[in-house]
Amino acid sequence: MEVSSQTQTLPAIPITMTVNGRSISLDVEPHQTLLDLLRDRLTLKGAKRSCDLQVCGACTVLLNGRAVSSCTMLAYEARDAEVLTIEGLAEGDRLHPLQQAFIDHAAFQCGFCTPGMIMTAKSLLDENSRPTEDQVKKYMNGNICRCTGYKKIVEAILAASGQG
Ligand code: FES
Ligand code: FES
Repeated sequence: MEVSSQTQTLPAIPITMTVNGRSISLDVEPHQTLLDLLRDRLTLKGAKRSCDLQVCGACTVLLNGRAVSSCTMLAYEARDAEVLTIEGLAEGDRLHPLQQAFIDHAAFQCGFCTPGMIMTAKSLLDENSRPTEDQVKKYMNGNICRCTGYKKIVEAILAASGQG
């Protein structure tokens, strides 16, 4: 049997999704990740690329309300879903309570991990509005911060839940 040496290009896939409340329709490459779609095509740069291996949490966004690593999710897998990124969290000039709590508690230094931290924390508080400190630590253990340390981050999340 003759094997073609040419690489086959798979056709782009038409998808529809809602991103930060806005419905969009576009064609995506089969291999395109959700993170690439958000950052490179929709210019939503809040979700960060770091490990690209679902280890650090920097790329976290919400998909139908649940935190996901957008670096390892294909864009077409998010078809028909509601995607929320850090850019969609504030209401006009009013920051989300988690955003405000991170500022109030100085829960970031370089800020690289912060969008992912806040999106994961939102997923937590949507599931459990008054988590214990241990529950916060457990839920957030997939989000890595290299410079702030975790104490202030945990304090900020507890404060945003009305505790502290
Ligand atoms: S960049 Fe996605 S988990 Fe690290
Ligand atoms: S604030 Fe710098 S990595 Fe977390």
